Amino acid sequence: MQALTQIEQVRAAVKEWRQQGLTVGFVPTMGYLHQGHQSLIETAAKGNDKVVVSIFVNPMQFGPNEDFAQYPRDLQRDTQVCEQAGASLIFHPEPHELYPDGFCTHVDVAGLTEGLCGKTRPGHFRGVCTVVTKLLNIVQPDRAYFGQKDAQQFAVVRRMVRDLNMPVELIACPIIREPDGLAKSSRNTYLSTQERQAALVLYRALCEGRSQLQNGVRDANQLRAAMEQVIGAEPLAKLDYLELVDLQTLQPVTQLCGDTLVALAVYIGKTRLIDNFIYQGEQQ
Ligand code: PAJ
Repeated sequence: MQALTQIEQVRAAVKEWRQQGLTVGFVPTMGYLHQGHQSLIETAAKGNDKVVVSIFVNPMQFGPNEDFAQYPRDLQRDTQVCEQAGASLIFHPEPHELYPDGFCTHVDVAGLTEGLCGKTRPGHFRGVCTVVTKLLNIVQPDRAYFGQKDAQQFAVVRRMVRDLNMPVELIACPIIREPDGLAKSSRNTYLSTQERQAALVLYRALCEGRSQLQNGVRDANQLRAAMEQVIGAEPLAKLDYLELVDLQTLQPVTQLCGDTLVALAVYIGKTRLIDNFIYQGEQQ
């Protein structure tokens, strides 16, 4: 497996594969890879002849008071994970390779980026969309793989790809969890032992929502109240948002009938964690 830092090297490698008629899958990441990332790479390896994984902690998608500097990094371990999961190439550029002096072009997706994480993290999706556009332009894959864990990110990138006619097929992969239900995340490493236990409250709240839905509850306020009660019972947790939104438009719903994203963000101490599930609406 190759590990490359220069854009031109990546272009040359992909060009060679193309000349051999091979298909290319792409998994963008910020590294510190866990089984969630691994499942994306494995899925990409099943569906394509070659797989490119990018590892780049993208400064543009972090706010000034966020965790860019402390975001965990371990390229050596990541390389092993990529290799085992079936990747063909790692692209791990330095920031100046992607953002040279004078860089001044950004990609903004309006509307979809205003609520949910976009509200708490202004500028975050501009950074995500700009870097994903650049990476897709560099790698030019047939397919790109994203996790449902970042449901808003997937909805935003899907809209961007459609609106800008980017020639790539996007594939959403299911959320991978710890055995006790906590969604895998590079940020879980920030949690103390006590916080790690408290972090289970996100999954518990989602389970409460699901069980209310199974009991026939469809009123968004009633569902939200039941889930908020679960979060409120955990002293170390502070709710950022808990929203029930239409899966396509990300606009809040009052009744759950069509496909609905039930998403939440919770601070556990200083660490902000997100999780969600999708309620598949009854066929009409
Ligand atoms: P990162 O947080 O490293 O995540 C990379 C990909 O892994 C994303 O598509 C994310 O949804 C997916 N992922 C993370 N945890 C997962 C889990 N528990 N189960 C399944 N998939 C999971 O998302 C980013 O990086 C960045 O915003 C990026 C798209 C790379 C742009 O910088």
